[in-house]
Amino acid sequence: MNYDTEKIRAYFPILQQKVYNKPLVYLDTAASAQKPVQVLLKLEQLHNDYYGNIHRGAHYMADKATLEYEEVRDKVKTFINASSRKEIIFTKGATESINLVASSFCEKYVSEDDEIIVSEMEHHSNIVPWQINAEKRKAKIVKLPFNDNGLLEIEKLPELITSKTRLIAVNHVSNVLGTINPISEIVKIAHKAGIAVMVDGAQASAHLKINVQELDVDFYAFSAHKVYGPNGVGVLYGKEKWLEEMPPYQGGGQMISEVSFNGTTFNELPYKFEAGTPNITNLAGFGAALDLVNEIGVENIGRHEHELLEYATQQLKNIEGLRIYGEAPNKSGVICFNINGIHSYDLGMLIDKMGIAIRTGHHCADPIMQHFGISACARISFGMYNTKEEIDLFMQALNKAILML
Ligand code: ALA
Repeated sequence: MNYDTEKIRAYFPILQQKVYNKPLVYLDTAASAQKPVQVLLKLEQLHNDYYGNIHRGAHYMADKATLEYEEVRDKVKTFINASSRKEIIFTKGATESINLVASSFCEKYVSEDDEIIVSEMEHHSNIVPWQINAEKRKAKIVKLPFNDNGLLEIEKLPELITSKTRLIAVNHVSNVLGTINPISEIVKIAHKAGIAVMVDGAQASAHLKINVQELDVDFYAFSAHKVYGPNGVGVLYGKEKWLEEMPPYQGGGQMISEVSFNGTTFNELPYKFEAGTPNITNLAGFGAALDLVNEIGVENIGRHEHELLEYATQQLKNIEGLRIYGEAPNKSGVICFNINGIHSYDLGMLIDKMGIAIRTGHHCADPIMQHFGISACARISFGMYNTKEEIDLFMQALNKAILML
C-alpha cells in the first residue's frame, strides 16, 4: 500500500495550525492522539441528530443512539478479534479498565499472602490499582524486572511464580521504553501455572494488530483517545469465564437484572460491568476513529511509525552526550532520552517555543526512572500523521536548544 501521509494529515484540522507563529509539529501521540475530522463530525452528528440515553428510551433517538453504541461494541470486538461481544466492556479508559479488574479479580480470587506479579516497566495505572487492592487483601506485589536495554527479564518469570501467584500484570508496549513485550510467551508461562494475565494495551492498540484470541490474554485494556478517538472512553476485554465469575465493579442503572430491598440480581455480560449512563457520544466518536484506523490499516500505521522511529533514532544517536532509554530490537514509535547537563524540562520548554510538542517528566512511570537513576526525561512519540520532515524540524530545534542551554 502507498502510505499517503498528506491525505492522512488533511483529516486532522489541528495539525494545520501554527503555534508561536511556527508550524505545529506534534510529537506527543503516546500521551494522546489528535482527532480526525471523521470523529469530530460524528460527535456533532450525534448531538445534532439523534442524541438520547441508550438502552432506556422508548423513542426514535434513544433507539438510534443505542444501536450505534452496540455497533461500536461489535467494531471493537472485530478490532481486537474477541470471540464474543460479551467480552467487551466499555469504561472511561485503560486506567478504569485496569482498576475494574484489580478490584473485582482481587475480591474474588486473591486472599492473604497471595502474590501478583507486576512488571517494572508499567505505567502507574498498572501498578497502583494492584497495590491498593493487594493491600486490602493482605496480598503481595512481586516485581518482574527489566534490563538496561529495556527488555523484560522473562527468564526470571518461572522462579518468580509460586503456588501463591494469582495474576501477572504487564503492558504490551511501554510508554517510556517503547519495548513491545512478548505477550504470548508470558501468557504461555503463566497459563502453564494456571495464572491469569492482565495486559495494559494503551500504547499498543493504535500501532500493532491486536488479536486477543491469538495472544490468549485473560484481560486487555486500552483507551479510545490513543486510537484517535475522543477521551473519556475505553475498553476492557476479559475472557467470558472470568467476567462471569467476577463480582460487579460499580452498582447503578443498567448493570442490574432485578432490584428490591431484599437484594439485587445482576445483568448479563457485558452490562454487568457498565453501571450508569455511559459516555454515549464519545463512544460513537470512537467508532468513527476505529473506522479510519481500519481503513488505513493498523499494520500500515505501525510500519510507517517504525520508519520514523529508525530515522529519528539514527539522528539522535549522533548527538554527543545523548542517552536513549529503551533499545529493544522490537520497539514501537516512542523515544525517551536525556542529554548530559541539560534538564528535560528546560529542553521541552525551549522546543515548545519553536512549535514542537514533546513530553517531558517521569511519564507516570516512576519505577522506570528509578531503574535508570533519573527523575525525568524527554520523549518524542509518533502517530499516523507524522513525517520525516517533522523529525528534521525537531532535530533542528533540538540542536538549537542544546546550543542555548
Ligand atoms: N500514558 C500517557 C503517556 O505516556 C499519558 O504520556
